Amino acid sequence: MGFMRKPFVAGNWKMNTDSLSSVELVKAIASASSEIAGHSVHVAVCPPFVYLQSVVNVLSTSSIAVGAQDIYYERKGAFTGEISSSMLKDIGCTYALCGHSERRHVIGETDELINKKIAATILGGLLPIFCVGELIEERKASRTEEVVTRQVKNGLAGLSAEKVSAVTVAYEPVWAIGTGLTATPQQAQEAHALIRELLGQMYDTKLAQEIRILYGGSVKPDNAVELMREQDIDGLLVGGASLKADDFVAIIQAAT
Ligand code: PGA
Repeated sequence: MGFMRKPFVAGNWKMNTDSLSSVELVKAIASASSEIAGHSVHVAVCPPFVYLQSVVNVLSTSSIAVGAQDIYYERKGAFTGEISSSMLKDIGCTYALCGHSERRHVIGETDELINKKIAATILGGLLPIFCVGELIEERKASRTEEVVTRQVKNGLAGLSAEKVSAVTVAYEPVWAIGTGLTATPQQAQEAHALIRELLGQMYDTKLAQEIRILYGGSVKPDNAVELMREQDIDGLLVGGASLKADDFVAIIQAAT
């Protein structure tokens, strides 16, 4: 009712591509989507750190934005191997993923760390894409609501409504990531509605209505349309299918 959230499709390349293929991929995406991107849908790609600069350069005349897959929460200093939000802003990034399931479950990031990263992402001038989602054991034990609620509350702890308005949330059930097992549109809608209601309780209804909530987990051209039909699904976070220009562009098209 009322507020129109502009659809948003983001591609998470994870630890894939190389110096040549990253540039080729983004060129193919930019040329095939030049008619659609920017008008009716926001589009972003999240390449590995080492290819961000060359992807930013390719996209200098495109409306496609670039995001990092992670950040460190300190601005600068003795943090060997880490990269700050302001550095990423400096080279032309717009977004950063925070709390992606692989960071939580492979690298071991906690809600508390993710909370610091979200705050630092905003402070450094980037827009966080804050990922949440339950494990298969948690869903089977009917703990989805509890887990997602905890992740959202802890992830956004201490952030003002103004700051939170910079956040895009991504609901990605862990069991659907890279498995080919997509959540049904109903399962996804249920989780999205829960997150939006929670944001309404934590902040206010207007903010909750304005925040975009993306779905992620085995999004493909053939399931994108039905997912996007759901009222609280405002866009898609795409892993595997974002590495194929044709598939990614078909997903962008489906989101319009
Ligand atoms: P997938 O990954 O589309 O390959 O399932 C989604 C994600 O991890 O963001």
